Amino acid sequence: MHEDVRRKLEEQVGNEFHASFTYLSMAGYFEAENLPGFARWMRTQSEEETEHALKLFDFLVDRGIAPELSALPKPHHAFEGPVAAFAAAFAHEQGVTKQIHALYEVALEKKDYSAQVLLQWFISEQLEEEKLTGGILERLKMSEGSKSALLILDNELGSRTEGGE
Ligand code: FEO
Repeated sequence: MHEDVRRKLEEQVGNEFHASFTYLSMAGYFEAENLPGFARWMRTQSEEETEHALKLFDFLVDRGIAPELSALPKPHHAFEGPVAAFAAAFAHEQGVTKQIHALYEVALEKKDYSAQVLLQWFISEQLEEEKLTGGILERLKMSEGSKSALLILDNELGSRTEGGE
């Protein structure tokens, strides 16, 4: 594997674990705010991000590489409210999409076809994740100022199963 591709993949393992940490931190925030549905949604999202990190990790291992991992940045844990937390989640997903696209560019440039196939899955996944977090953010904005609307949304998000809303 070309060194540039390897380095970017290793970096993305860290980015996905950082996303996992970020959502876990948000889950803690929502728990403390007595919004267990939002907290559960965030916890499920955190688990999915760990799976993303391991998917990349395993890809490197399958190619005979012992991945070199780096320290993770500290995630935010205080938010002004649910809208601010989901705005941060949405912005985070947009950032991850950029990371994946940049990684794909390197895989294209270095003609790493199997990395391209793997990354095509991530490109589709990012489309879904932006749609999901962006959609919840919009609904939260609509419910701003209404405690009952917030509780209905909390109840709805609490029924999330992995891979879905
Ligand atoms: Fe795996 Fe939501 O980025």
